Amino acid sequence: MKHDRPSVAPVLPVAASDALAGLTENRTRTLELAHGNHDLVRVLDALGIAGPFTRIDPWELEDQHGGRMIHAGGYAALPFGERPDFLVEGLQAALNDPSWVSFSQQSMSSLRAALEANLVALLHTASNDHEDAGVVFSNSGAEAIEVAIKMARAARPKAPWLIAFQGGYHGKTMGALSVTPSREYQKAFGPLLANVRVLPYGDPDALEREVAAIGADQIAAIIAEPLQGEGGVVAPDAAFLPTIERLRQRHGILAIADEIQTGLGRTGSWFASIDGGLSPDIITLAKPLSGGLVPVGATLARRSIMRKFLPGFAARRHSSTFAGNALAMLTGLLSVEAMVEQDLPHRARVEGEEGLKRLKAFAQERDGLVREVRGHGMLFALVLHNPVPASVLGGNQNLTRLLASGLGVRGLQESGVHAIVSLNANGVVRLTPALDMPADRLARLWDNVDTMGRKYPSATHLAKHLTPPRLVQMARLASRTP
Ligand SMILES: Cc1ncc(COP(=O)(O)O)c(C=O)c1O
Repeated sequence: MKHDRPSVAPVLPVAASDALAGLTENRTRTLELAHGNHDLVRVLDALGIAGPFTRIDPWELEDQHGGRMIHAGGYAALPFGERPDFLVEGLQAALNDPSWVSFSQQSMSSLRAALEANLVALLHTASNDHEDAGVVFSNSGAEAIEVAIKMARAARPKAPWLIAFQGGYHGKTMGALSVTPSREYQKAFGPLLANVRVLPYGDPDALEREVAAIGADQIAAIIAEPLQGEGGVVAPDAAFLPTIERLRQRHGILAIADEIQTGLGRTGSWFASIDGGLSPDIITLAKPLSGGLVPVGATLARRSIMRKFLPGFAARRHSSTFAGNALAMLTGLLSVEAMVEQDLPHRARVEGEEGLKRLKAFAQERDGLVREVRGHGMLFALVLHNPVPASVLGGNQNLTRLLASGLGVRGLQESGVHAIVSLNANGVVRLTPALDMPADRLARLWDNVDTMGRKYPSATHLAKHLTPPRLVQMARLASRTP
């Protein structure tokens, strides 16, 4: 390569210090539209939910116009709210230690060792099993799923099939996407992993029938969420997880429990799969392990699987440069410690029951707005009615349902609640408040949901923001949708 051109010093358009101080809303929008996920920003903007938001404290956000919201967003990844003080202080103290090594890729790390031991101890305490389990760290939930799939392939090399479930959500990398049966997410990216059989979620009979039809020795693993989060907070039949356990014990089919959303307290126990009667061979964790601050993924597996996954000199056939880095490991350690000290699974159970009571009363009163309410621990879903007939959007049901959830999030935002949509269930708005949210904020959260009901007594009232220019913008985006 020639280097005969004089080098021109690049001029960076934005100084880090300016970005940290906060750009104006318009400048942020312009940059995001120019270089980010343009059409997503357009949709969020048209719905009036694009932010950006700033943090008041871990449990409250503010929009650009000074509107305050109780923070019930974060996609179940904020067990202590936004940027909790104890984590910031713990990480700051560590960063001030000059002896600290960030990336121990090729050497041992006391922080990684400690988090490995603590996660396995949590699992062992919950299951009375798994005391010699192994842990493989990663940088996201989807990556933890990739590891789980690779483990299953390596441990049962003669069994080509994976069983996954309708409505399941495991992430959007190629392997994880292959077991996330969503036409919207999969269609453009095929061919995906072959030999994935998709069954109705939570149906033990359908599962047993299909295992018999495929042949148990042909199935490497069954991958399931103990409760579908992005699928809209959907619980399986009580016999579902015990059926997977029976198939696991009888045939050696590996059970992969995706606890990325349900695990570590959110749904009221450390591991929802174990609570539901399954002793999984492989468990994936991520969201809350991050403390809402530094991404951490983890895949836990029985020792026998670890031996087949990374044997002998093939022990380096799976790795990831940043996985297990010190900042992530310390974050995981501090987060898990705080969850144990505060017994957050118990709190999620108690406050979850109270929240569900409030939401059920709300739904009863506003039955023209809310079709159904679901809740498990501190994972809540409101299934909304359509704000407009599907014919307004060219008969597109999916888009109409998506609009319902988007406008629902907007209505809540205006009423002082920061909520989220469901990635795999349109028409569903979810609330995932911090597990340590103080009682007075939780009370305000439920009061603000009631406020939304007074503002928008029925779903058609939600549509009042759909002014003609916004509708044109939506129609344009709809026409660009493959
Ligand atoms: C159950 C489950 N698995 C996997 C993922 C993917 O995690 P990530 O978005 O960190 O890749 C999610 C994310 O919502 C999830 O809920």
